[in-house]
Formats: sequence, C-alpha cells, structure tokens
Amino acid sequence: MNDDPYLLLPTAPSVDEYVHLRAASGLSPKTPEQAAPVLTASWAFCHVREVATDTAVAMGRTLGDGGWYFHIADIATLPEHQSRGLGRRVMTWLLAQIAERAPADPYVTLNADAPGRPLYRSLGFVETAPASVAMRLRTTD
Ligand SMILES: CC(C)(COP(=O)(O)OP(=O)(O)OC[C@H]1O[C@@H](n2cnc3c(N)ncnc32)[C@H](O)[C@@H]1OP(=O)(O)O)[C@@H](O)C(=O)NCCC(=O)NCCS
Repeated sequence: MNDDPYLLLPTAPSVDEYVHLRAASGLSPKTPEQAAPVLTASWAFCHVREVATDTAVAMGRTLGDGGWYFHIADIATLPEHQSRGLGRRVMTWLLAQIAERAPADPYVTLNADAPGRPLYRSLGFVETAPASVAMRLRTTD
C-alpha cells in the first residue's frame, strides 16, 4: 500500500492552481492571461498534488529549446507544505527529464531566489557571477 500523501504528476497544474501557487508561495503574481500559455508552451512541467485534498501544492517547469539551453522556473511549494521534500522532488524530476530527453552537455540555468539557493546548490548548481550575471529588461520596478 502506498501511503505517500503526495503525488507528482508530469503535467502542468490548472491556470487557477498556477496563479495561486505563485502568489501564495511569495513569487510575483501573474494573471490568468499570462498563465494560460505557460501551461502548454513549457518544455517540461510537473506539479505535486496532495492526495487527500486533490489540490496542487508544489510545481516547477523548464523552458527549453530541446537542444542545449534549458531554464528552470516557477519552483514553488505552498508554505504549509514546505520542508517536506517537495521542492527537491520537483527539481529532481525536472533534471531527470533533461538527462533523459536532451542531447549530452545541456546548459541548465535558473534565477535563484534566496529560499531556493540551498536546494539548488545541493543539486549541483553554481553561481555564474562574476563572469556572467542575470539581467532583465526593466519594464517595472
Ligand atoms: C524554494 C522552495 C521551492 C523549496 O521548497 P520545499 O518544498 O520546501 O523544498 P524541500 O522540502 O525539498 O527542501 C529542499 C531544501 O531546501 C532547504 N530548506 C527547505 N526548507 C527549509 C527551511 N525551513 N529552512 C532552511 N532550509 C530549508 C534545505 O536545504 C532542503 O534540503 P534537504 O532536502 O537536504 O532538507 C520553497 O521554499 C518555496 O516555494 N519558496 C518560495 C518561492 C521561491 O522562492 N521559490 C524559488 C524561486 S527561485
């Protein structure tokens, strides 16, 4: 008998779940209009559902060209479900997808907010600075 309270699905959550997961975990909020294409256009997407409530509680995705350049985004776990290994489960699945489906020698990036840094470091990520730093087009503060 499987008594794992969580189930990882190799799919995106719904638009409403995506919007809620981002906002509730402290990431910048996105609109349903922004969320809709995310769910179908990502290279890989997974989310974790709490079995008892059938709700999405964690997620992560990869943007990628399928050849060599992959960017991991939307790593989020609802606060009440954090520190239970779900972020690691999501990251491990996303990295396994790259290992299985992409040609050898992929370049895998992410923008590491403070809460995720210990997790990313433990999975082998290193900082690119000072040789290279992340930049964004400043359209809003
Ligand atoms: C980052 C985040 C996704 C981690 O999710 P999580 O489900 O709590 O992660 P895990 O339980 O798998 O823990 C992974 C690692 O994070 C660290 N960690 C988790 N909870 C922690 C806590 N309360 N205090 C310190 N470190 C903690 C540990 O290094 C842990 O390693 P371990 O597996 O060896 O114990 C989650 O904190 C989150 O959603 N934060 C808000 C959104 C965010 O900042 N996302 C990252 C964007 S780059």
